[in-house]
Amino acid sequence: MPNDPNPADIRLRGLTREDLPALFEWYQDRRVADRLVGGYRLRGRDEAISYMQKWLEPSSATFRLIIVDAADQRLGLTILSGIDLANRSAELSIFIGPQALRGKGLGKAAVRLLLDHAFLDIGLNRVELRVLDDNVPAMRVYEACGFVAEGRMRQAAFKQGRFADVILMSILAEDHRRLQPATASATT
Ligand SMILES: CC(C)(COP(=O)(O)OP(=O)(O)OC[C@H]1O[C@@H](n2cnc3c(N)ncnc32)[C@H](O)[C@@H]1OP(=O)(O)O)[C@@H](O)C(=O)NCCC(=O)NCCS
Repeated sequence: MPNDPNPADIRLRGLTREDLPALFEWYQDRRVADRLVGGYRLRGRDEAISYMQKWLEPSSATFRLIIVDAADQRLGLTILSGIDLANRSAELSIFIGPQALRGKGLGKAAVRLLLDHAFLDIGLNRVELRVLDDNVPAMRVYEACGFVAEGRMRQAAFKQGRFADVILMSILAEDHRRLQPATASATT
């Protein structure tokens, strides 16, 4: 990638079949896989890509969105899952794919875009997430975007051969409105 993408220029777009090889490569990086709360399984490329095909099917409960720069270069993945329109809540997850692009403000910008979509387009009231208790960079990003820690889920994940505590965090629409008054005022 010639220049580092500017966080102000990134956008989210729906996942396509052409994105799956990049996703496979990103999931090979243990610095990503070991930080995600979900389990990890080694798969071959063909098996993994065939498994991911089902992510392309339309779903009202899960949105997988690729983070791209102004030139549509793929930067990472964000997911809004468990979308519950009765309780108007969902769960967020994210990673930045290329290691060289982590720590440059892209994660924070992408979380803010996903929260705008969740609160201002879909009309959700609560977005929550789960993060491993030693994932300091991720927690910094979530706090900067308005998430607050709600509690510690003891030994809720099994990572790298040991149980790890998981922190449950959430943000409400009213928190987001307070932090992003310029965008939020467009719909209020
Ligand atoms: C977590 C992740 C999405 C954040 O995206 P990012 O683009 O790297 O994050 P940003 O650059 O926007 O912000 C990172 C913040 O963490 C801080 N940080 C980075 N490394 C740190 C460290 N070792 N200790 C403390 N803070 C650290 C940065 O200073 C920055 O905070 P600041 O803006 O207050 O200075 C990305 O690092 C990633 O994909 N990590 C691997 C997968 C992962 O952990 N996903 C989240 C699972 S819950």
